[in-house]
Amino acid sequence: MKLTPILALALTARWAVKALPGPNTPPSPKIRTIYTFPNNTFLESLAVRSNSNLLITSMSVPHLYSLNPTTPNPTPSIIHTFPNITGIAGITETTPDVFALVTANWDLANTRAYPGTLAVWTVDLSKKQQPIIRLVTYIPNSTIINGLTSHPSNPRIILGADSSSLGAVWRIDLVTGNYEIAFSSPLFTPTGTAPGTNLGINGLRASGNHLYFTNSAQGFFGRVKIDKKGNKIGEIEIISESPEGVIYDDIAIDKEKKRAWVASHPDYVVEIDLSDGKQRVVKDETRLLNPTSATFGRGGKKEKEKVYVTVGGQFVGWDLVGNGIVALDL
Ligand SMILES: *[C@@H]1O[C@H](CO)[C@@H](O)[C@H](O)[C@H]1NC(C)=O
Ligand SMILES: *[C@@H]1O[C@H](CO)[C@@H](O)[C@H](O)[C@H]1NC(C)=O
Ligand SMILES: *[C@@H]1O[C@H](CO)[C@@H](O)[C@H](O)[C@H]1NC(C)=O
Repeated sequence: MKLTPILALALTARWAVKALPGPNTPPSPKIRTIYTFPNNTFLESLAVRSNSNLLITSMSVPHLYSLNPTTPNPTPSIIHTFPNITGIAGITETTPDVFALVTANWDLANTRAYPGTLAVWTVDLSKKQQPIIRLVTYIPNSTIINGLTSHPSNPRIILGADSSSLGAVWRIDLVTGNYEIAFSSPLFTPTGTAPGTNLGINGLRASGNHLYFTNSAQGFFGRVKIDKKGNKIGEIEIISESPEGVIYDDIAIDKEKKRAWVASHPDYVVEIDLSDGKQRVVKDETRLLNPTSATFGRGGKKEKEKVYVTVGGQFVGWDLVGNGIVALDL
């Protein structure tokens, strides 16, 4: 399997910045590996259920996994295998225990879907019996919906980050299956077409009245106010720029809307204060191997003080190794 973009990202990000502990810097979080997947399981995103279990997606296998991170030595189970696809990208909870996700046949070397293969599905885990899987729609004119988020107050709408030169946020109506570009901006576009430069808007998380996003290629984290339908109703604000060598990917926002934790390549998670853009870079060369997404834990009080991170792994020859789930105990 040829998974060169990760390698390219790792190579462009060699000038690592280190977290400088200052007088007000909280202690670095403890970093633990929860589970390591088999080689070449390029983990991409995760969501957390109210029962604390993680739902985990991989762009290189067609399975949706579940993992209970609160038990010692957990092993994942497969919730569903999607037929006729090569992998799953973003996932988001829409109503209690119902999740939406994006599937496609992926050209992983270019981080694009083969045209016509990208689709949105819902996975309903709220019933006692088998999960109910429903195709919402194909989106034939997108080749990459990367970050995916639910609208904070309108459960029938999800928003997806189109990282391509479209530089757009898609709106998908889960009830009608209608899809359209909600808005686009030069602040969402990539800077080139080669791996390492071809991902513009990437992470996406709606919280309160804002849609938070990262632009990987342009190197910043920002937000924009949205209305009830997910339309842009304000100027795009840039909150922070990624330090040299750090490439922002997907975002977790805390319940209090004070801090973001941004999964970042090649081996970082970055804490960002939403009020002033101050950042703290947490680095771990052995455990944080190409972090792709992050979410706060859920359930008990202890879980809410943890950030779970999907890591995409690192190349050893042609094998991607160390794909897994890592916990940060804050
Ligand atoms: C499989 O996906 C392709 C597009 O990637 C589509 O043309 C074909 O109809 C699908 N086959 C089935 C059985 O769903
Ligand atoms: C997507 O394709 C459909 C069908 O060709 C077209 O009606 C629609 O305008 C396209 N939307 C965008 C945003 O390109
Ligand atoms: C994973 O890949 C590495 C590097 O190629 C290899 O050394 C290792 O044996 C592989 N692990 C398994 C279980 O195949």
